[in-house]
Amino acid sequence: MYRKLCRLMIGIFAVAVLAGCPSRVERYSPRIPDSAAHRQAVQQKNCLECHEVASVPHHSNNDDCTKCHIICRGC
Ligand code: HEC
Ligand code: HEC
Repeated sequence: MYRKLCRLMIGIFAVAVLAGCPSRVERYSPRIPDSAAHRQAVQQKNCLECHEVASVPHHSNNDDCTKCHIICRGC
């Protein structure tokens, strides 16, 4: 009984570690400056009009930009 529970805990721990591993963490992504252009750009294709994502490490054109980069108001 306890052994099973123990394995389950190790499993959950391993999954948590693996899930946290990708180098891009949403919470730590650079904020988007609160400029007029950024307030209008809401879609990923808008972002690509100005940003050359291929030159940013770990980025691809299919990324959902706003999932990670949010506008920073008041900073
Ligand atoms: C009209 C052109 C334009 C569009 C559209 C645009 N950006 Fe930007 N972005 C810029 C410019 C220029 C800068 C740097 C100057 C500044 O600080 O405003 C910048 C800065 C940034 C930064 C900060 C970079 C740093 O060095 O910290 C991020 C992150 C960013 N943009 C993400 C996005 C995302 C995500 C989108 C789509 C929702 C987007 N941008 C749409 C022009 C644009
Ligand atoms: C999974 C989260 C995530 C997604 C999705 C994402 N980014 Fe990023 N982005 C980051 C992180 C984290 C950084 C900081 C640099 C790094 O570690 O790669 C970054 C850096 C940047 C920078 C450079 C900022 C600097 O200081 O030079 C720009 C510009 C940028 N991202 C634009 C975009 C655009 C445009 C998209 C959509 C095509 C996008 N990002 C999608 C997480 C993300």
